[in-house]
Amino acid sequence: MLQQFPPMGVYETLFKFADATQEYMGDQGTHPWAQGYPLTTQVPGGPALPAQIELQSTDLKYPKATGESELREAISDYYNAHYDAGISPDHVAVFAGGRPGLLATLAFLEADICVAVEETEYTPYYDMLKLLGRKVHYIPSNVDNKFRPETKDYDIDPIAGTSRVLLVKSNPCNPTGVTMTGAALSGLVNAYSGDGRGALFDEAYEFYCDPAPESALRYIEDIDNTDIFVSGAATKGLQVPGMRVGWIIAAKRHIEIFRNYSSFGMGGVSRASQLYVTKLLSPHRVAHARDAICSFYGSQRKRYRTGLEALGFELATGDGGFYHWGQLPNGLTADTFNQRLFKHRSGILPGPLCDMRRRKTGTGSLEHFVRFSFGPLGPETYDNDMQIIARCV
Ligand SMILES: Cc1ncc(COP(=O)(O)O)c(C=O)c1O
Repeated sequence: MLQQFPPMGVYETLFKFADATQEYMGDQGTHPWAQGYPLTTQVPGGPALPAQIELQSTDLKYPKATGESELREAISDYYNAHYDAGISPDHVAVFAGGRPGLLATLAFLEADICVAVEETEYTPYYDMLKLLGRKVHYIPSNVDNKFRPETKDYDIDPIAGTSRVLLVKSNPCNPTGVTMTGAALSGLVNAYSGDGRGALFDEAYEFYCDPAPESALRYIEDIDNTDIFVSGAATKGLQVPGMRVGWIIAAKRHIEIFRNYSSFGMGGVSRASQLYVTKLLSPHRVAHARDAICSFYGSQRKRYRTGLEALGFELATGDGGFYHWGQLPNGLTADTFNQRLFKHRSGILPGPLCDMRRRKTGTGSLEHFVRFSFGPLGPETYDNDMQIIARCV
């Protein structure tokens, strides 16, 4: 009775890895370069992660549909302090991670809206758009423009059969790390603030951005007068993917829709997780975490860039995220590379899984591209990582 639906690309790779190795990528002794999670331990120079939270019997009740007041307030305080966002807790809806907020936003889009997405983007956007049957405009992001669309590429007319456009954009971009900041981001926010335009800025990697974190909320004047959605999560910046806490910042009228959705489709988000994440967002701690993540991962980005380029990788990575994105040396395909890596209990995410058109081979295919994740890697693994990669290219 259920329609067939394949796993999201990252999980597809994890399942292939498990078939080849009888292990789960991420387990002790494996090298999880396909995976998009950060260290869940204290990063050098960063704050510790609390080992405990206390729960009262009242914490065990159903949580509020839109998110707990403490957390919504901590989130709005955070954006106001760092980006002068001018928002209140009424502009915040809490979800069980980043993806559920993205899916909810897309699921409630009216029928006359098409989605504009860069060709090379975050793998599950493909699954979400396919499941929801949305009409899609593809913004060029490929070898020809070095995965850096120009301003004119975002100037999009609604495609046939639609009358409005919603831009969906990860910034920093997963997988490329290309990040839009300052005047360019301000211009894009402006261009998508008018009638018939809306945007979903997915800022999962907000803290992972050189030289400093950035958010579209810095440039939105009055979010209630827009159809702009900004998505964040505790998953990457706050280093707690297992807590499953994410949020959407949007106009109050949209937050009400998310509350209604939660009332019938989600039942709120674990209060224990929300209390934990509220602690992580205390003003001094979160300021400390931003600086430490930005600086530690900035140094890892540089270090792995040097190593991979020395092995002949042609990298197109930008200044954000915790991935390197580039073309393999020696004409290798990502699939062949993975077959070799699996023997060393390691693996990368093959480029075609980041292609929103899913071309496997031929023109425009990303079969020679890989996304290498240094998110889960501590400073001590570098030499061994490079030795394995050197053997496999
Ligand atoms: C671009 C992007 N957005 C959102 C997420 C959301 O993550 P989660 O659903 O695990 O909180 C991720 C995680 O990989 C991501 O890479």
